[in-house]
Amino acid sequence: MNTIKLHNGVEMPCIGLGTYPIFGDQLKQTVLSAYDAGYRLIDTADNYYNEEDLGNSLSNLYKKRGNVRNDMFLVTKISDELYRQGDITPGMNRGIYFWKSSPYMQAPNACHDIVNKKVEDSLRFLKTDFIDLILMHRPYPDFFEEIWYEMEQLYKEGKVRAIGLCNSYERHLDTLLCKGIIAPMVNQVETSPLNTKSEVIEYYASKGVKTMVYSPLQTLKYKNENNYQEYLEQLANKYGKNKGQIILKYNVQRGLIPIPKSTNSKRLALNIDVFDFELTSEEFNNLTSFNKDLQYLPESKGCPGF
Ligand SMILES: NC(=O)c1ccc[n+]([C@@H]2O[C@H](COP(=O)([O-])OP(=O)(O)OC[C@H]3O[C@@H](n4cnc5c(N)ncnc54)[C@H](OP(=O)(O)O)[C@@H]3O)[C@@H](O)[C@H]2O)c1
Repeated sequence: MNTIKLHNGVEMPCIGLGTYPIFGDQLKQTVLSAYDAGYRLIDTADNYYNEEDLGNSLSNLYKKRGNVRNDMFLVTKISDELYRQGDITPGMNRGIYFWKSSPYMQAPNACHDIVNKKVEDSLRFLKTDFIDLILMHRPYPDFFEEIWYEMEQLYKEGKVRAIGLCNSYERHLDTLLCKGIIAPMVNQVETSPLNTKSEVIEYYASKGVKTMVYSPLQTLKYKNENNYQEYLEQLANKYGKNKGQIILKYNVQRGLIPIPKSTNSKRLALNIDVFDFELTSEEFNNLTSFNKDLQYLPESKGCPGF
């Protein structure tokens, strides 16, 4: 597996497996198939509620393929548990932690205690004594710097090998570059040829921050935006690949790290088989020109105005 180097020297696989929503035996089978296909990076989050299943899937993998923990790059996230059923009033667009109004945040060391508890839970669920990369799931406005400070401490303690953000923009990075001690190593965002986010991605790159790409294949489900699907088809035919592989290759050629999710062993293998061809610069630029800032997930809904 090709890797890219984070600014702290840690090597990270240049493509990975998304795991939401995969649970139980299906996750066990997916992790095994993904490992055999060559995946070495797996992405999860505390609020996917599959960390424990992923830990069991990894134990199963180690039993069958040997203790390959050090070959794997595990990514998880610290969230405000936005969608946990029953914990929040239906329709309330906020999670239970990391908001000033939350009863959980009134204690003097609440942020420290909650971040540490979450990471201890992740370590226990994933059955590991370190996490390769931990991300703040959204830039929670009320406690953004405090959460980052706690993440820095976890990094210094060696519980996590790298720390980063998700769904963040220039202003979030600027805040941490001014006030944080350790610069984020990664920002995980949604991007595709229909939503290139060029400015934010280039800004982060200029500060040494790598971009991971979530939902990289969702645009396959979109209607034919200005012949986007036809153009993908044309490139797929030219290179003997499928449309998903063309999008994933576009990401990889941008220097980004996509994390496609699939539970289908054939698609899993195809999604990682993108290293035997190159898009020409004209094709690359043509794909970029489809951009219309079309966002699939409402990424800032949980943090309006931030
Ligand atoms: N940080 C964040 O805020 C955030 C937000 C959303 C997601 N994520 C992460 O990013 C991961 C990926 O995002 P995602 O799951 O939303 O979207 P995705 O990986 O772009 O797309 C997944 C969907 O595409 C299908 N698929 C997979 N390979 C395909 C191919 N080659 N051709 C056609 N269809 C294909 C999958 O179905 P099959 O399973 O049947 O193949 C599934 O329905 C998540 O699993 C999660 O780990 C992070």
